[in-house]
Amino acid sequence: MTTPRIAFDLKPSSQPAPEEERAAALANPGFGRYYTDHMITIKWTEGRGWHDAQLQPYAPLQLDPATMVLHYGQEIFEGLKAYRQPDGGIAVFRPEANARRFQLSARRLGMPELPVETFVEAIDLLVAQDRAWVPAEGEQSLYLRPFMFATEVGLGINRPANEFLFMVIASPAGAYFPRGIKPVSVWLSKEYVRAAPGGTGEAKCGGNYAAAFVAQSEALAQGCDQVVWLDAVERRWIEEMGGMNLYFVRGSGPAAEIVTPQLTGTLLPGITRDSLLAIAADLGYRTGEVRISTDDWQRGNAEGSITEVFACGTAAVITPVGSVKSADAAWTVGDGEPGEITMRLRETLVGIQTGRVEDRHGWMHRV
Ligand code: PLP
Ligand code: COI
Repeated sequence: MTTPRIAFDLKPSSQPAPEEERAAALANPGFGRYYTDHMITIKWTEGRGWHDAQLQPYAPLQLDPATMVLHYGQEIFEGLKAYRQPDGGIAVFRPEANARRFQLSARRLGMPELPVETFVEAIDLLVAQDRAWVPAEGEQSLYLRPFMFATEVGLGINRPANEFLFMVIASPAGAYFPRGIKPVSVWLSKEYVRAAPGGTGEAKCGGNYAAAFVAQSEALAQGCDQVVWLDAVERRWIEEMGGMNLYFVRGSGPAAEIVTPQLTGTLLPGITRDSLLAIAADLGYRTGEVRISTDDWQRGNAEGSITEVFACGTAAVITPVGSVKSADAAWTVGDGEPGEITMRLRETLVGIQTGRVEDRHGWMHRV
C-alpha cells in the first residue's frame, strides 16, 4: 500500500535573521548554539494520522503543563547533517537511513511511524529554505535535528499518547568537541548502566540521554571528557559512548583490522558506524563486529595489538580516544595521539560528505 503524500503548507518568515547576525553565527558556529530561521512541524492524531505539515518561522512552543511528554518522556530524535558541495550546492548524508532508524525508535516507544519519504521531504524543505545557513568552511555543516514527542494533555498512563508532534530544527555546526580532533579521554562507567537487554538502548529516545548525564558528570569529575558504557549484565563488554559509537584498530598498516562492538540491542546502530564498516572495507582493511571487553582493551593496548581507538557519530564525526580511566585502571591509547588509520578513515568520510571523495555508495542526497 502506498501512503498518500502529505502536502506541506509553506509559511516563510517575514523576519529572517539579519545577514550580519547569520554571518557572525556561521563564522564560529560551535555546536547547537544558533538556530536557523525556520522549522518543520507535522501533527499526528489517533484516527486521523499525519496532518497539518508546515514549514514555518522558528519560534517557541506553547505547551499545557499536563502535556504527556513533560511527565513520561515519550520522545525520540535524530541527528544528521547537510554539507556545502564544491559546486555550491547542498547534500545531506544518508537521510533515508536516519528516517528508517526514526521509525524503529518510534515503534519501540509506542509512537506512530513517519513515512521515510515525508521525513526526507521535511529535511529537503527546511534545508532549501534555510540554505544560506549551510556553512561553506572546511568540514562545517548544517546539523538537522528531527524529533517527535507526545502532545496529548493528560496524566493517565494506561496507553501511549494519542497525539504527537514531529518537528525538524536546524543549527549550523563546527566542531562538536571544542578542541577539534584532539584525542578525548574516557571514563569506563562501572556503577551506572545506559541500557539493559529488552530496554530502549537501540532507540534514539531522550530518556536514554537523561539517564546518562549523571555518569557524564562523573566522567568530568574524574578529569575525563566522555563516558564509555559497558553492558548491563556483566559490566565488562564495551558498548558505546554517550553520543558516539566506538572503533578499535588492531595491528597497523594495510593488514590492520578495524572492529566495532556488535549490535546487541543495547547500543545505538550508528549511521557513521555503519558507513565506516563500508569505508574501511573500501580502503582494503579487514573489518569486524565483535565483542570486546575492558580487559581485552587494556591487555591489547599493553601488548600493542590494539593500536588506535576512536569514537564516531554525526555530531562528533571521528574523534580519537587518547586515554582511558576506570575505578581500578588507567592507560594511554597507543602514543595518545590521533592514529594514522583513524585520520585516514576520517579524511575519507569527511571527503565523501563534502563532495571531495567519490560517493561510491550513493550516500549523498542532493537538496
Ligand atoms: N550512540 C549514541 C548514543 C548516539 O547518540 C549517537 C549519535 O547519534 C551515536 C551513537 C552515533 O550515531 P550516528 O552515527 O547515527 O550519529
Ligand atoms: C548526533 O551525533 O547526532 C547525536 O545525537 C549526538 C549527541 C549530540 C546527542
